[in-house]
Amino acid sequence: MSKKRILSGMRPSGKLHIGHYVGALENWVNLQNEYESFHLIADYHVLTTDLNTSDVYDNSIEMLIDWLAAGLNPQLSPMFRQSQIKEHTELTLIFGMLITVSRLERNPTVKEQVRDLNIDNVIFGHLGYPVLQAADILLYKGVGVPVGEDQVPHIEITREIARRFNNQYGEVFPEPEPLLTNFSRLMGLDGSAKMSKSLNNTILLSDESDIIKSKLKKAVTDPQKIRKGDPGNPQICLVFSYHKKFNTSEVPQIDIDCRSGALGCVDCKLKCASRLSEFLEPMREKRNYYQSRKNEVLEILDDGEKRAKKVAAATMMEVHEKMKMG
Ligand code: TRP
Repeated sequence: MSKKRILSGMRPSGKLHIGHYVGALENWVNLQNEYESFHLIADYHVLTTDLNTSDVYDNSIEMLIDWLAAGLNPQLSPMFRQSQIKEHTELTLIFGMLITVSRLERNPTVKEQVRDLNIDNVIFGHLGYPVLQAADILLYKGVGVPVGEDQVPHIEITREIARRFNNQYGEVFPEPEPLLTNFSRLMGLDGSAKMSKSLNNTILLSDESDIIKSKLKKAVTDPQKIRKGDPGNPQICLVFSYHKKFNTSEVPQIDIDCRSGALGCVDCKLKCASRLSEFLEPMREKRNYYQSRKNEVLEILDDGEKRAKKVAAATMMEVHEKMKMG
């Protein structure tokens, strides 16, 4: 029996951080044997919030290298840029006819973005962000989409568009389900917002151990615990949340020693930095491998784009046939 297909994507913002890993990438790596996985570099989606495209290509390659370093297998899973498969734009145009403006205006993820980035006048393409995303998913007839919680409203719109198309023209598309990660996104080093490049509160997958150490030294902890000996509350401590992810075996002991005061924040952070560094070591090694073999990376991308193109073209044929525009 053939495997079910899933489609996932990220906007290329350059090197990835551990929040990307925990929130999405780790899930992708775990799912790639069970599902036929397509991985999309959403380079057109970048334009919805930033018209300057000068870094988009380099950022796409950096992100691809991180995907490979984290363990995505290019033989199993095609990786490709949205901008290189023309069918994305074509299907987006058709899908734009199948959803109303008021429905798109109700999308909480776009609303949040507009608020966070202080956007006064939303461009047409930004409002249409989930329409392009629907085309990304449905071109490959993905039945599952491994994403974080914040993407669920977009997937709901994808489902509505699929239904609307199928009702209007005949059955072509599945209604995809989100496949959520069980670990929600990590908070950034400042402890007040999710980890994100624009907030400068990240630890990169590619950071060397001394960088990780100095970044963690500045991380916030329980503000009531000022010096070693003071009892702390791990439940509200950012560093503890990193231990929970990257140092599971020591979590019970750290919990006890933080509460009793036996473990001070400085030692706790050093412990966390060294575990995290160990965890990332194989990725750093793999990243160095690909970094020095750019040709191999470009071949992987080229191969992924060829494979994606085949599937996308076949779907568009079907779409045109159903619409009697073949
Ligand atoms: N909107 C997703 C994000 O921010 C990126 C994305 C684009 C995507 N196309 C997709 C995710 C298709 C899943 C499926 O991060």
